[in-house]
Amino acid sequence: MSNSSNIESILSETRSFPPPATFTAQANIGSEEQYEQLWHMAKDDPSKFWGEMAENLTWFQRWDTVMDGDMPNTKWFTGGKLNVSYNCIDRHLETERRNKAAIIWEGEPGDTRVLRYQDLHREVCKFANVLKSLGIETGDRVTLYMPMIPELTIAMLACARIGAVHSIIFGGFSADAVADRNNDAQAKLVITADGGWRRGKEIPLKIAVDASLEKSPSVEKVVVVRRTGGDVDMVPDRDLWWHDLMADASAECDAVELDSEHPLFILYTSGSTGKPKGVLHTSAGYLLGTMMTSQWVFDLKEEDTYWCTADIGWITGHSYICYGPLANGASIVMYEGAPNWPDEGRFWELIEKYQVSIFYTAPTAIRAFIKWGNEWPEKHDLSSLRLLGTVGEPINPEAWMWYHEVIGQERCPIVDTWWQTETGGIMISPLPGVTATKPGSCSRPLPGVVPDIVTEKGESLEANQGGLLVMRQPWPHMLRTLYGDHDRFLETYFSTIEGCYFAGDGARRDADGYIWVMGRVDDVINVSGHRLSTMEVESALVAHERVAEAAVVGFPHEIKGEGICCFVTLKHDDGTEDLKAELIRHVRHQIGALATPDQIRFAASLPKTRSGKIMRRLLRDIAAGRESTQDTSTLEDFNILAKLRNDEE
Ligand code: WT7
Repeated sequence: MSNSSNIESILSETRSFPPPATFTAQANIGSEEQYEQLWHMAKDDPSKFWGEMAENLTWFQRWDTVMDGDMPNTKWFTGGKLNVSYNCIDRHLETERRNKAAIIWEGEPGDTRVLRYQDLHREVCKFANVLKSLGIETGDRVTLYMPMIPELTIAMLACARIGAVHSIIFGGFSADAVADRNNDAQAKLVITADGGWRRGKEIPLKIAVDASLEKSPSVEKVVVVRRTGGDVDMVPDRDLWWHDLMADASAECDAVELDSEHPLFILYTSGSTGKPKGVLHTSAGYLLGTMMTSQWVFDLKEEDTYWCTADIGWITGHSYICYGPLANGASIVMYEGAPNWPDEGRFWELIEKYQVSIFYTAPTAIRAFIKWGNEWPEKHDLSSLRLLGTVGEPINPEAWMWYHEVIGQERCPIVDTWWQTETGGIMISPLPGVTATKPGSCSRPLPGVVPDIVTEKGESLEANQGGLLVMRQPWPHMLRTLYGDHDRFLETYFSTIEGCYFAGDGARRDADGYIWVMGRVDDVINVSGHRLSTMEVESALVAHERVAEAAVVGFPHEIKGEGICCFVTLKHDDGTEDLKAELIRHVRHQIGALATPDQIRFAASLPKTRSGKIMRRLLRDIAAGRESTQDTSTLEDFNILAKLRNDEE
C-alpha cells in the first residue's frame, strides 16, 4: 500500500443476511430499484429530491429556495416558515392520532404515564406559556438538565413552539460542565428536577444546578420538576416549581411561525481537546432529515411501538426519541432508568410489557447484555419485536450475531446506523426491507448522503482500502455552525479535505459498496508502518468465547514503532497467563501475524464516556505508562482509571 494515509483492513467478514421476504413485502422502501432511484435522484438533483420530501412537513409559508449556497454554508428551504412543535404535535390532532399514545413512559421505580398526542399538546402549550411568562423570547437559550421524564420532552417542544433554543445537558454531567455550557450559550433559564432515579439511587440534579449557577451568571431563573421528592433548596426569586407554574398556565398557545433556518437547539459534544463544541441545528432541514430517516431506516408504521433506549441528553435521543418519531406521529416508549434495575431483565420486561416492535440501542449496551447472560432475555416474550437497531460505535460482528440470534430470534433485520451529533440524523444504514446486512458494516448511504473514502489528499480510494470517511455533498440536517465559533466549525470539519465534510472516522468500502467504519482516525495504530484499525483487533478478541469486551490501543515500541496493547474484559472468571497466551494465538489466527498483540491486560471494566464509548486515548497513556494529561471530564467512572493503573505489571 503506497499512501501513508491508508488504513489496512485485516478483518474479513463474509456472513450476509438478506431481509426476510415478509419484512420486505410491507417495508416503506421495499426494493433495490426504489433505493437506487431515490439515492440517484437525491445525488443528481438534491433540490428536487428534498423539495419533494419537504411536502411531508406542514408549512406556514412555503420556501423559495430548497438549497441555498455551497457546503459548508448551505441554507435550506430559505423563505419558508414553519414550527417544529406544530409539526410534531398539532398537525396530528386533526387526524385519528389525537387519541394515540405519543409517549409511553416508565420511571425506574415502575411508575408509568401515557401521554396521548392531545395530552402532549396541552402540556406543551401550557409550558410554552410558562416560558413566555418568565420572559423567554424567540432566540433565547434555555438549558435543560433533567432526568428522562415526560417533562423533558414537554420542555423541548415548548422551547421549539416559541423559538427558544434548547441546550440539553446529560444528567450525568457535573456542576462545572453545566456552568461551562450555560456560559457558552449565555442561557437565561435552567429547567431541572429535584433529582432522577438511577439504579435505585437519586441523582441530585438540583444541587448540581445550584453549584453551577455560582459560575454562570447569565441564568436568571430555574424551573424545578418534582420527581424524586428529595430535599431541595429553593432560592427565592430565582427558583420556581414546575407544578406551581403549570397550575395557572393557559393551554392555548399558538406555535410561532419561524424561519426554516431558525436555530432549534445547541448540543454540546466533547472534542478530544479543548472546550466542548456547541453543535447548532436549525429547524426545517433537521426536522425533515429526522422525519424521513425514521421512515426509511426504522420503517415506522402507524401501529408500531418504538423504543430508543438512548438518553435524550445525546443526539440519538433528540433525533430518534423526540423529533423524528413524533413528526411521524409514532408511539414512543421512554424509560427513565438503568437496564439492570431492579435486575438485568428490565429492558426485556419492558419490551414484553409494552409490546415494543422497534428497538434501538447501542453496542456498549449489547456487550453488557451478553455479559449478563442469555437467561435474562430468555425469561421474556420478545415476539413483538420486528426490527432492531444499533448506534454509537462500530458493532463487533460477534455482538451483532448475538443481537440477531438472541434478541431478534433470527427474525428481525438489524439496522447498524452510522451518524454523528454533527450530522443530525442517520447517514449510512441498511434499509431493513432492502439491504442484505453484513455483521459489522453499516452498509450503504441513505438517499441524500454522498460519502466517499479518501486519502489525506482527498483522492478517492479503491474498494477495500481504508481511508478517511467524508461527505461530498451537503444534506439538510447537517450542523450549521459551532455556537459562537464559526471559525472552529470550518477548521474542525472542512479543513482536512478540500470541499468535503470530515468528522474524524476511518472506513473502507467493500466490493459490494458496503461501508465498514473502522473507528476514529485518532485511534489508528501504526505497527511496522502498517496502519491498523483498533476496531478490527477488538472484534477478533470479542469473537473469543470468554471475552465480553475489548479495547485496543497502540504504545511506543522500539522495533515496530507501535505495539498492540489489548485491554480485555472477560465474561466470567479472572484471566490467567494461559488465557493471555491463548488470546494472542486467537488474534494471530483470526487476522494474521501483523496484528499479534504485544500485551494483553485483563480489566474488570473499561473507561467509557458517559454515552458509552470506550475512551481509548486514556488507555493509550496507561499502556505507555504515562501520566495522563487528557481531558477526563466526560469519563463515566473515574475509579476505573485508578484500578487499571494499579493493575499494571
Ligand atoms: C461517532 C459519533 C450518532 C449518535 C451517537 C453517537 C461513532 C456512531 C456508529 C456506527 C460505527 C459509529 C463514529 C462517529 N459511530 N455510530 N453505527 N458504526 N461507528 O454520536 O457522540 O456524535 O459520535 O460515533 O465514530 O463519528 P456522537
